[in-house]
Amino acid sequence: MVQNWEQLREAACRCEKCGLAATRNNVVFGVGNPRARVMFIGEGPGENEDLQGEPFVGRGGQLLDKMLAAVDLDRKKNIYIANMVKCRPPKNRDPLPEEMEQCMPYLRNQTALIRPKIIVCLGRISAIQLIKQDFKVTREHGEWFEKNGTLMMGTFHPAALLRNPNQKPAGLDDFIHLREKILEVCPETYEME
Ligand code: URA
Repeated sequence: MVQNWEQLREAACRCEKCGLAATRNNVVFGVGNPRARVMFIGEGPGENEDLQGEPFVGRGGQLLDKMLAAVDLDRKKNIYIANMVKCRPPKNRDPLPEEMEQCMPYLRNQTALIRPKIIVCLGRISAIQLIKQDFKVTREHGEWFEKNGTLMMGTFHPAALLRNPNQKPAGLDDFIHLREKILEVCPETYEME
C-alpha cells in the first residue's frame, strides 16, 4: 500500500500488469477531491475517457454530471470518481475478471487513502464486485449496504439510463436518497470548496 496519493497515481500510470496496457492511450486514474467523503465507482474507461484520461467525460458523463449537480455534488469539489479498471477495454467490452483483479489493488489503495463514508457503484459491474455477487440493479438500486463501516449503494450506470430513459426518474430518486444519506453521515460534503 502506497501512502502518498501522487506516488499511487504514478504507479498506476506506469502499470503494465494486464493486457489493457498495450492498447490504452491514457490510464484513467480518477477525478475529484481526494478528501471527498463520497466516492463513485464505474466500470472502465470508454473511448473518450481513454483519450482524455478522465472518467465519465462522454455522453454518459454529461448525464452523470447533471444528476450530480441536481443534488449539489460536483466532481471538481466534493466527490471522487474512479472505475473498476483504469484502462479501456477494447471495443468497450466488459472488463475481464483477471483485468479487474490486477487493477483492484489501485482502487483499494485509493479507497484506503480517501476513506469514504459512502461508495456509490455506477452499474452492475462495480456493484457485483464491491457490494455482492448477485446484485441486481433493477431490484436493488438505491438500497444501502454496510461493509466495514462504509455505506454502499448501487445505481444505474449512466449509459444504461441513456439507453433506457424511462429509468431516469428512478436513477434520480437514488441520487435524492444519496443526498439525504450524505446530510446524515457526512454533511461536510456540502461545505467543501
Ligand atoms: N463508463 C464507465 O463505467 N466509466 C467511465 O469512466 C466511462 C464510461
